[in-house]
Amino acid sequence: MDLLRTKSIEQSIADTDEPEYQLKKSLTALDLTVFGVGVVIGAGIFTLTGRVAHTMTGPAIILSFILAAVCCALAAMCYAEFSSTVPVSGSAYTFSYAALGEFFAWVIGWDLILEMFLAASVVAQGWSAYFGVLLENFGIVIPEQVAYGGVIDLPAVVLICILGFLIAFGIKESMRVNMVLVAIKLFIVLFVIFAGLQFVNPANYTPFVPAPQATETVTGWTQPLLQALGGGAPMAFGWGGVVAGAALVFFAYIGFDVVATTAEETKNPARDLPIGIIATLVICTILYGAVALVVTGMVPYQDLDPSAALANAFVAHGQGWMATLISAGAVAGLTTVVLTLMVGATRVIFAMSRDNLLPMSLAKVHPKHRTPSRITVIVTVICALVAGLTPVGMLEEMVNIGTLSAFVLVSVGIPVLRIRRPDLKRAFKVPFSPVLPILSALICLYLMLNLSVETWLRFLVWMAIGLAIYFLWSGHHSRLQTGKALHPDLEKTLRENH
Ligand code: ALA
Repeated sequence: MDLLRTKSIEQSIADTDEPEYQLKKSLTALDLTVFGVGVVIGAGIFTLTGRVAHTMTGPAIILSFILAAVCCALAAMCYAEFSSTVPVSGSAYTFSYAALGEFFAWVIGWDLILEMFLAASVVAQGWSAYFGVLLENFGIVIPEQVAYGGVIDLPAVVLICILGFLIAFGIKESMRVNMVLVAIKLFIVLFVIFAGLQFVNPANYTPFVPAPQATETVTGWTQPLLQALGGGAPMAFGWGGVVAGAALVFFAYIGFDVVATTAEETKNPARDLPIGIIATLVICTILYGAVALVVTGMVPYQDLDPSAALANAFVAHGQGWMATLISAGAVAGLTTVVLTLMVGATRVIFAMSRDNLLPMSLAKVHPKHRTPSRITVIVTVICALVAGLTPVGMLEEMVNIGTLSAFVLVSVGIPVLRIRRPDLKRAFKVPFSPVLPILSALICLYLMLNLSVETWLRFLVWMAIGLAIYFLWSGHHSRLQTGKALHPDLEKTLRENH
């Protein structure tokens, strides 16, 4: 088995011309930005900000947000170059197939599956929490056993099933729903910033970087790997806390990479993808910085609510109706996040099964709706089970480690592809390559080291399962290995390229 066999760019693009496996090309740069903002602003800002400020950083959380944004900006440039060069479905997975070879493509695809499945499920649980709070305001109480944190989280399951149906119906239709929900979410975030300003007390910003402490959050299995390796200097609060906080709030930026998974459905991917990715990141960074400053200014960090900080900061100032409005906005906002992550998961599996690294029969698109309906059903069922049955708060860091490891490979892939294929047309180029891509990979790795020991262990188990599947099945059945073609023309292309 040749682990480093690569799929040529031309071949990747040729695959997308096969009618049975072809998606509708309908998205514009604006659609992509809406799509991006729709997935990026979610549980990260609505729930994680409060928890991280409360347990890890204090008011310095804004610095964590900036550090995470720098990491994402570098990775985003790499994504933009790749997606403007290889405009096919599957995001980082497809790029790495062309640049780094099949084995790395599998690893990255496996990471992305982890990222998107778990993130969709985690955010659905967050949605369920806010949904419960909102219903309570109207006097409706969901029975404990089937509510958020119960034996089965029924609202989360129902949400995922409805969204799965929308996705199967056609991406343009889901995009329209997305557009409305994103508008509501932006309004709510801006509302928090501007309505909150009047309640800011500058005294809450002192100390800005609280002294380091050995708290419960950073002991045993839950301590950052770096702390364990570095002899145990506590990484809650202080500058260590700012970095560990960045590894956590990184979750809030996850999603801009999902924009790249829609390349094949984009009208002019070379131009629109870089615009969509970078615009998404800029908008979100500005909003996060502002929200973080306002919320930590409204309430002393020790008193911030770790689950619904944005709404409860307003309750602390006696503004109940504002809190209700924010909860309603969170329900709308988190819906788009789950939707977009589910679409992303579908697209990655689609790309992998078209290459027969997962069974090819999965990748057939619905003759009428032109969406990969079989995969949509699988994604929906798995997300519903994970969201419905997994205990709350277990999986967020897994999402981060999966995403960061994908970013590392994408970053490394940029200089590699430039050396291998200098001839390819690149509508967008990362400046100062290879310095910036290497810096990007190093920062991602550093943030990974700031995640907990238990997260690393779980991640290693996940990777071990992935490798077993690759060596036992995928590596032998891959279309590159077997030469199994989608159609005779493609077979010819394969022969010419290899
Ligand atoms: N960035 C997304 C969120 O914060 C995953 O919910």
